[in-house]
Amino acid sequence: MESCLIDNFNRVHTNLRISITDQCNFRCVYCMPEDMEFMEDEEVMTFDEIVHLARIFADLGVRKVRVTGGEPLVRRGVPELISRLSQIEGLKDISLTTNGIGLIKQAGALYDAGLRRINVSLDTLNEAKFERMTRRKVLSKVLEGLREAKRCGFDPIKVNAVPLRGFSDDEIVDLASFARENSYQLRFIEFMPLDADDIWGKDMFIPGEEIVGKINAVFPLEPIPNDGDRKHDTAKCYRFRDNGGEIGIIASVSEPFCDQCNRVRLTSDGKFRTCLFSLTETDLLMHLRAGAPDGVIADLIVDAVKAKGPGHKINAADFIKPERNMSRIGG
Ligand code: 5AD
Ligand code: SF4
Repeated sequence: MESCLIDNFNRVHTNLRISITDQCNFRCVYCMPEDMEFMEDEEVMTFDEIVHLARIFADLGVRKVRVTGGEPLVRRGVPELISRLSQIEGLKDISLTTNGIGLIKQAGALYDAGLRRINVSLDTLNEAKFERMTRRKVLSKVLEGLREAKRCGFDPIKVNAVPLRGFSDDEIVDLASFARENSYQLRFIEFMPLDADDIWGKDMFIPGEEIVGKINAVFPLEPIPNDGDRKHDTAKCYRFRDNGGEIGIIASVSEPFCDQCNRVRLTSDGKFRTCLFSLTETDLLMHLRAGAPDGVIADLIVDAVKAKGPGHKINAADFIKPERNMSRIGG
């Protein structure tokens, strides 16, 4: 079935990111403060509610779902949720973004539940920097989680890194070497103004172009065109000329890709957002809990997509930062 989620700019939305919790066992500086306040349990969607809404989205043409957080694996029973999502007719691709720790224990169960694609966030390979970045001393556990995921057969394993000037700019090439050695697909994500602490700014931001330059100087790269399956890829990808592996740069700030956007988001408290930077959201969970028929919820979704704006305005003078930080939206 064709997607019903077409906006006024002819963008077809087939990709849904579902945040299943705003809680996290890390406190990454670019995301949340140490004393972050979390949602009450009752505010958060149950698995039944998530599956119910996911079915409505699939009927509207969503084909890919990514499960995110906070940190999704702090919630109990994620493999069961994955398996329920995999059974929804129309959904062709389920993936998960995690900080990696939970993979030590859960990678096997997630794989058995049908999950094949995961993204693991890892910004530095240096224990002291890792602790400064995440405020937790657990680098070795993330590395162990990555190894366990590989052992279980996950493919591809993507590693997400948010480089910050003054923190990890000197590690860009080290991360590239690490990814090359382990056949992980490394993706650098530009720091976006979605941190709860308001530290985003020119001082810490590193543009994608600088990252590519640093890697290319050591490991020559060639660009891979964003066509075919990659048309809606948020990452601009490059192939290592010597070994066929690739890296990606998600340059949301310096080179926005809003005109190709095919994504929508559901927060863990059941609010529908058509953009990371939306200033409005639609409360689907409230309607679901009030017993609204699926058709009514579907109409709310379709209408919200129609009202989607052309793109974020991070680089404009009138940019307004959304109230929700990354962990409350879903990365
Ligand atoms: N800018 C860019 N990426 C961010 N993430 C969290 N906060 C930010 C931010 N302010 C990333 C995490 C994770 C993904 C879910 O989002 O590193 O990889
Ligand atoms: Fe947790 Fe991810 Fe936010 Fe880090 S970026 S604090 S791992 S939700």
